[in-house]
Amino acid sequence: MSQSEKSRGTEEYAKTHMEESRHLPIYQHRDELIQAVRKNTFLIVTGETGSGKTTQLPQYLYKADLCRHGGIGITQPRRVAAITVAQRVSQEMGVRLGKEVGYQVRFDDCSTKDTVIKYMTDGCMLREILADPSLTQFSIVILDEAHERSLNTDVLLGLLKKTQSKGSHGRKTTLKVIVMSATLETEKLSSFYGNCPVFTIPGRTYPVKEKFCNLIGPKDKDSSVYVKEVVKMALDVHTNEVTGDILVFLTGQSEIEKACDLLFNKAEVLDYRYDVHDRAVEGLLILPLYGSMPTDQQRQIFQPAPKGVRKCVVATNIAATSLTINGIRYIVDSGLVKQLNHNSSVGLDILEVVPISKSEAKQRAGRAGRTSAGKCFRIYNKEFWETCMPEYTIPEIQRTSLTSVILTLKCLGVHDVIRFPYLDCPEERFILTALKQLYQYDAIDRRGEVTKLGRLMVEFPLPPNLTRTLIKAATLGCEDIMLPVAAMLSVENIFIRPGKSEAQKEAEIRHKEIAACAGSSNDFLLLLSVFEKCKASDNPSSWCKDHWIHWRAVKSAFSVETQLREILYRLKQQKDFPHETFVGSRSELLRQCLCLGYFTNVARRSVGKSFCTMDGHGSTVLIHPASCLFGQELQLDWIIFHDVLVTSRVYVRTVCPIRYEWVKDLLPKLHEIDVYELSSVAREEVTDAEMAQWDKKEAAKRQAEAAEDTAKKLEKRNNESSITEARARYLERKQNRLQRKDT
Ligand code: CDP
Ligand code: MG
Repeated sequence: MSQSEKSRGTEEYAKTHMEESRHLPIYQHRDELIQAVRKNTFLIVTGETGSGKTTQLPQYLYKADLCRHGGIGITQPRRVAAITVAQRVSQEMGVRLGKEVGYQVRFDDCSTKDTVIKYMTDGCMLREILADPSLTQFSIVILDEAHERSLNTDVLLGLLKKTQSKGSHGRKTTLKVIVMSATLETEKLSSFYGNCPVFTIPGRTYPVKEKFCNLIGPKDKDSSVYVKEVVKMALDVHTNEVTGDILVFLTGQSEIEKACDLLFNKAEVLDYRYDVHDRAVEGLLILPLYGSMPTDQQRQIFQPAPKGVRKCVVATNIAATSLTINGIRYIVDSGLVKQLNHNSSVGLDILEVVPISKSEAKQRAGRAGRTSAGKCFRIYNKEFWETCMPEYTIPEIQRTSLTSVILTLKCLGVHDVIRFPYLDCPEERFILTALKQLYQYDAIDRRGEVTKLGRLMVEFPLPPNLTRTLIKAATLGCEDIMLPVAAMLSVENIFIRPGKSEAQKEAEIRHKEIAACAGSSNDFLLLLSVFEKCKASDNPSSWCKDHWIHWRAVKSAFSVETQLREILYRLKQQKDFPHETFVGSRSELLRQCLCLGYFTNVARRSVGKSFCTMDGHGSTVLIHPASCLFGQELQLDWIIFHDVLVTSRVYVRTVCPIRYEWVKDLLPKLHEIDVYELSSVAREEVTDAEMAQWDKKEAAKRQAEAAEDTAKKLEKRNNESSITEARARYLERKQNRLQRKDT
């Protein structure tokens, strides 16, 4: 295609999209909306999902010349949404993605300094504030999908309230803040921002018939059960209902891929190495949709199916509000969602499958009524609805670990992390746990001040344990080992584990081979081997296929590694970057570095093959069968682990054996600091005098402990005798008085 033909193609594309966008509900209200933004510093915009908020409003504001001082930053809780929406808007405007319209998500920045409309994940916006607290590069910040109440969005809501009210850093507050949300909780948001106006875009929806299909009940939590039922239901809809596309709500990537396989093969499990996507089966086009999906596949979701073919999108909750797919008339709802929750019995955040809330179920059903009347098939029964599903979804900030967020807040100078303006306060104990962890990682000191190490840690878009490990490795000059490991742990699913038994065996053998020939005596080292072997191979994708490894995941790990390396390189340029030396083997080096980040996840072998965690919870855990250490438990004593899987038992995955000496000095840190002290460092009212008092108290306590037992006894006896003497003197005086009275 010649250049001019190409540009004509783009122009036509833009024209069609422009035509389409005129039919969106938001179009009627664009002038009023622009006026409202001009007039207000804070504005809430709500409207049905699909009314055009995310794609249209930034364009209106741009065209109305409202971003003269800087661009428009629009946050999304999910990376797929940020990417696909940016693609769409660049097409609508007829510009190249990454120029006027761009996106920025973790480990992938597709924007330049000329980018005016920038879609970004809320995590990236948080990093932006960290680099520049008054957000000078933006005229307008739009917090989109606020009803999702993601952890980072909640923190941004508070931060923007704080910066705006203070007009911080001497900047005159020209920055405008727009919060967009589906129709939930608008009053609460408005009162949070001093009763700012709420702009409601009247929706256009059609009735949706909701039906309980009674295929699963409260006890059916096993994925093999609900995946199968969802597939059956979808096939049922396909055979019995008139035209219209199907949207299936499932839990996560692996379940979605399983369901797509089943749908394709109608209950015969396929060989996983086939690329299952994008194949039409008897008039059914099966399309998976999940957060970590590769960009080229995302685009197909929005394209209409060919004539006579029905589209069936199998998606995570992402399709509930973040992305609107046109043409959907049927919903198949599993009633479940994968959610990160803090598990207090294990003391860790765990990704688990839980029932959705009733309000979420209504939102899912509503997706069927966008273009005409629709139907929603709930695979669960009424009992499930009544007993398992809460009314509303609890915001993430109230159910997950706050460690990274609290460090970010501290680095931004928010000392009082307990009375920070949260839309919904997290429980104080969660904040205290986060502070405790940061203290354990040496990211903050006893006074709650960020340390030099903490300032290095906040630069990495990784959880604190990985960051701590990485920095330690860099200090020892061996980041080449840790960078790939950190990258591999940041992407999803490296190993293909097929369900079918022969395939499963073959995969296991292949994985063991890699482990054996690399001498991989632990799972972290195995990840490093996969990374290095794949990188060194002439044809990495076929190497992955041969070894039952997800090439896509490894490919993104390559890119993550490069980016982490860049951050580290920049930090190492600093004069005061710490340096230490180490003598020992590569494997030992890796294991010792890991201890610095994972001493919170230490376990010691107890009875038989089970281990006992050392974090104060003393939970009993088992090594997961997928670990390369499975079966060798009896030869192990101390281990660290990356994550936990809770079924009827608690399993640890990605495991590494360590020596007690390496964690001996670190373990006391798990119990050292007390909650009272922490809750006070979390509040602003702590004065230096109070702090000095604690220091004194602490010193006195230590002194007392150090004193000899005998000395204590002696002191006690002295005390006792002095009390006896005083008592005697008192009695004597009393006696005298009585005698005087008598005479
Ligand atoms: O934000 P809101 O839910 O109000 O709507 P939107 O995301 O701006 O979507 C407006 C329209 O654009 C919908 O009809 C979507 O289907 C369409 N869209 C699309 O076709 N492709 C995308 N990548 C994003 C949106
Ligand atoms: Mg939207």
